[in-house]
Amino acid sequence: MRILAIESSCDETAAAVIEDGRKIVSSVVATQVEEHKLYGGVVPEIASRRHCEAINGVVKEALAQAEIGLSQLDALAVTYAPGLIGALLVGVNFAKGLSLASGLPLIPVHHLRGHIAANYLAHEQLKPPFLCLVVSGGHSHIVEVKDYTDMRVIGKTRDDAAGEAFDKAARTMGMPYPGGIHLDKAAQSGNPDAFALPTPKVSGNPYDYSFSGLKTAVINLIHNAGQKGTELSVNDLSASFRRVVVESLLKNFTAAAKEYGYDKLVLAGGVSANSLLRQRTQEVCDRNGWQCYYPPLALCGDNAAMIGAQAYYEYLAGHTADAHLNAAATMDIATLA
Ligand code: KG4
Ligand code: ZN
Repeated sequence: MRILAIESSCDETAAAVIEDGRKIVSSVVATQVEEHKLYGGVVPEIASRRHCEAINGVVKEALAQAEIGLSQLDALAVTYAPGLIGALLVGVNFAKGLSLASGLPLIPVHHLRGHIAANYLAHEQLKPPFLCLVVSGGHSHIVEVKDYTDMRVIGKTRDDAAGEAFDKAARTMGMPYPGGIHLDKAAQSGNPDAFALPTPKVSGNPYDYSFSGLKTAVINLIHNAGQKGTELSVNDLSASFRRVVVESLLKNFTAAAKEYGYDKLVLAGGVSANSLLRQRTQEVCDRNGWQCYYPPLALCGDNAAMIGAQAYYEYLAGHTADAHLNAAATMDIATLA
């Protein structure tokens, strides 16, 4: 089954053709990051406008690279939630128009389910059930993936997402948007024990996260040093910050795996590109005799290939939409409501 998938939830306009949920026939990503860099973060109105300009060309290019026309497709898929509403609407309306014109069925895909499915494109043996840590710019979730479309969230962030915390700490250190990748690079040559940063703690659900206190601690440290005219080592601060974030993410993820009896751990989302998170997750899995999976770097960030992969399983589960499909800025990954 060949699916043409479209993704426009944030600052990447993307289209891909995917076969049977596992094989990338073509994948095109047009990023707006250079423009948003000027403002230190994504400007929603600019994002929507750039999606409008790019979407036609990106979809045409995905079909051209796949060397097929609409008549050789079996379905269309689109990210409909969660994300920036104006950005999502561009993809959703484009896909609805294409579906009406071509008669192809339309599959709505949850963006985070797509991030999880990026792993199916790289690891052909990977099948649910497994426990997944979904860490992106807007979300930090521990998700029980019981089946391809049957999920349960057992922990999530109470405030900032891990990616957001990385980006804000990086910005205060003077790194360009999106800062996560720059902070990760700077951390490679820093001392992770140079700064004693607070370990994030929450009461109540033991699997929930909180990153805003840690983020604020780093920002205060930088501002105080600035006022006193003291030099801070960006590499040391990056390494110390990265260590605390990764240790916090893994503490709950590992405890949840033990509590719920999972022996297959999977990373997903933009922050799964973090080199320390990948290394430490692998080490934890090796120590416990668990299987460990994470996407290749090219599929960690936003793309449409992952949407096409998840769409295949949504289609098999009977999840299709009609012309009434709407976009939503927020949506639960488990209940899709
Ligand atoms: O999943 P994603 O591409 O977009 C959303 O759905 O939000 O995630 C983007 C996030 C950004 O916060 C970015 O800084 C972060 O992923 N990120 C990283 C790394 N690469 C990307 N964070 C830490 N280390 C990295 N190497
Ligand atoms: Zn994403």
